[in-house]
Amino acid sequence: MASATILVLNGPNLNLLGVREPKTYGSETLADIEESCLERAASLDLALDFRQSNHEGQMIDWIQEARESADGIVINAGAYTHTSIAILDALRACELPIVEVHLSNIFAREAYRHHSYISSVASGVICGFGAQSYILALDAVAYLLEQKSQDD
Ligand code: DQA
Repeated sequence: MASATILVLNGPNLNLLGVREPKTYGSETLADIEESCLERAASLDLALDFRQSNHEGQMIDWIQEARESADGIVINAGAYTHTSIAILDALRACELPIVEVHLSNIFAREAYRHHSYISSVASGVICGFGAQSYILALDAVAYLLEQKSQDD
């Protein structure tokens, strides 16, 4: 049995990956990314709870549930990254290791994408590596959990 469960939470429009702006976000679908994540998670001995919603309130409900059901969160909040204090507050309240992830390099894009509310509560941010960003984020969360278990 896997030793820890990671909530991989995807926000608005990420259900359109593969067809949405492939030059920016790549040609892999969210289902492809989930499959690669499941493979990497198995090799890291992690269980995954992989989800997507276009709705801010739904995402907040899932983050609140993660307090009880998960050991860490990998989050790509899509455009809510740049707007949602409510998601920031939910993440702060959950007291779990958090890795923020983006497919694109948000700092090389429009100025309105340069600020992230989520970064202030994340242990770290991985962006700009396309679908591979998710794999790197899983490696990062596994590292954080390992560090945490050594501190306990
Ligand atoms: C994104 C970047 C955001 O600015 C954008 O709104 C998205 C996707 C990314 O993964 O690159 O929806 O989070």
